[in-house]
Amino acid sequence: MRLGDIYNQSIKILKDSSVENPALDAMIIISTVLNIPKEKIITDPDMDIPEDKVERILKEIKKRGEGFPVAYIINKKEFFGLEFYIEEGVLIPRPETEILVEEVVKRLPEGKELVGIDVGVGSGCIAITILKMRKNINMIGVDISEKALEISNINANIHKVADRFLLKKQSIFEEPKLDIKLDFVVSNPPYISQSEYETLQREVKKEPVEALISGKVGTEFYEKILSWSKRYLKDGGFVAFELGIGQAKKVKDLFLAEGFKDIHLIKDLQGIDRVIIGYN
Ligand SMILES: C[S@@+](CC[C@H](N)C(=O)[O-])C[C@H]1O[C@@H](n2cnc3c(N)ncnc32)[C@H](O)[C@@H]1O
Repeated sequence: MRLGDIYNQSIKILKDSSVENPALDAMIIISTVLNIPKEKIITDPDMDIPEDKVERILKEIKKRGEGFPVAYIINKKEFFGLEFYIEEGVLIPRPETEILVEEVVKRLPEGKELVGIDVGVGSGCIAITILKMRKNINMIGVDISEKALEISNINANIHKVADRFLLKKQSIFEEPKLDIKLDFVVSNPPYISQSEYETLQREVKKEPVEALISGKVGTEFYEKILSWSKRYLKDGGFVAFELGIGQAKKVKDLFLAEGFKDIHLIKDLQGIDRVIIGYN
């Protein structure tokens, strides 16, 4: 089949399935399956595509039509200019989380050896980006999901930071029981309430539910992490969280109730309070 024909057929399937960006998604999936640059789809429409590749493309396009996110189909997602390996079963890194990483890195002086923990490490995108940007940092990553730990480990090896990254299976609802003091705690915890979950797009519902739902209210994980953080933080250490929409006041009050000071809220490009940082 001609490349141009499989491209047009893919767009039609995605359009009929109400996918938001049919042409772009078709281009990404086709170029990944064929391992060719995206532009070639436009510049070389007569290229002959062997039958087995056509079948593979149509199989992946069909999955996209059923609501599977592109990142699960092509097994990768860019985050902070780095490419992360992604599989179904782990949360896909979001652009909002780049703000959290930026704000944390800003507060980590170079030179001195520092230790941090990433709670709910997922694909490892937060911890690994911090480790890439600061060679003087060691990090612990915890998650309740075996899959998340497996994918984090793959990404740590891809980005060559595994020697400074300790991964542990652990629930947020237990204290980490560390025998060292930490310079910082960072987390993008599940922060969606059960009722909000029902309103999410079908693509998001293909992601692991335990990575998204926090509980009835949505702020349960913040409360839990803050309840043990102070015991493990050095003087002057900090906790940094990504926030869900409308959670800033409630989470700020939780920081204050635990005795944190110098609490900063950082907005995203849409003016939403997206990151909160408080100091020990
Ligand atoms: C919103 S995701 C964040 C993933 C990743 N840090 C990121 O920013 O893309 C939350 C993570 O918390 C993990 N998680 C959920 N419940 C947990 C629990 N009780 N204890 C530890 N981790 C948990 C999920 O498996 C998921 O990887």
